[in-house]
Amino acid sequence: MNVMRIIVSADYDEMSKLAAEDVAGIIRENPTVVLGLPTGSTPLGMYRNLITMHKQGNLSFRHVTTFNLDEYIGLEPGHVNSYRYFMYENFFKHVDIQEQNINIPDGNAADLEQECMDYEAKIRNAGGIYLMVLGVGNNGHIGFNEPADHFPIATHVTRLDESTIRANARFFRSPDEVPRLAVTMGIGSIMRSRRILLLASGNAKARAISAALEGSVTPALPASILQFHPDVTVILDAEAASLLTRNP
Ligand code: GLP
Repeated sequence: MNVMRIIVSADYDEMSKLAAEDVAGIIRENPTVVLGLPTGSTPLGMYRNLITMHKQGNLSFRHVTTFNLDEYIGLEPGHVNSYRYFMYENFFKHVDIQEQNINIPDGNAADLEQECMDYEAKIRNAGGIYLMVLGVGNNGHIGFNEPADHFPIATHVTRLDESTIRANARFFRSPDEVPRLAVTMGIGSIMRSRRILLLASGNAKARAISAALEGSVTPALPASILQFHPDVTVILDAEAASLLTRNP
């Protein structure tokens, strides 16, 4: 039976706190858990809450393994807009996770096709992802799986949508600097996770959320595939939930 739990929180701070509590509970139950992790503005508050729990001595990442969803192609190593930099600055360097347990696709690999195959193999060898935390793009993308006419299965090289380039330009000096290509886990990589935690906040996400949760399942709106996953928790703030007709 498919179960999708939808939780509507008052605001971004409450969404972040609930998400962090969910993740922390899973780590406490299984300290060697394998997590899939997103970047973006949405999970920042969740990361901040997890760091606080760690600093208060309530949570250890010592035996946790992580796989990031995606990475831009062609930003030089250490670039402030790379997702590697984002993850270290906003999370990894503040907790006790071990370097060898951190996995992020290498957007500078000489052979990107090989890098994609190796990334899939690493996920498999780690026993698969238990909890995949996801944000969603304004256009319904998950990771960098953009609206398309099919669901790409495995980790792959993808071309960013014009709307994604515009949305992500806020982190760059100009839209021209946003990389056009990225490596992303595929829809299959995401759907094979045992559990999924989808987060969304703000009015800009309301349409994507209502289409993803209540519309048809279609590769034109990649997040809609989550309706087929057996164990999804969605945590929204009131704005992101505002267009749901079955507002819980
Ligand atoms: C980015 C990332 C996604 C993220 C999404 C939303 O482009 N590739 O993994 O979920 O867009 O980002 P934000 O949380 O900043 O709205």
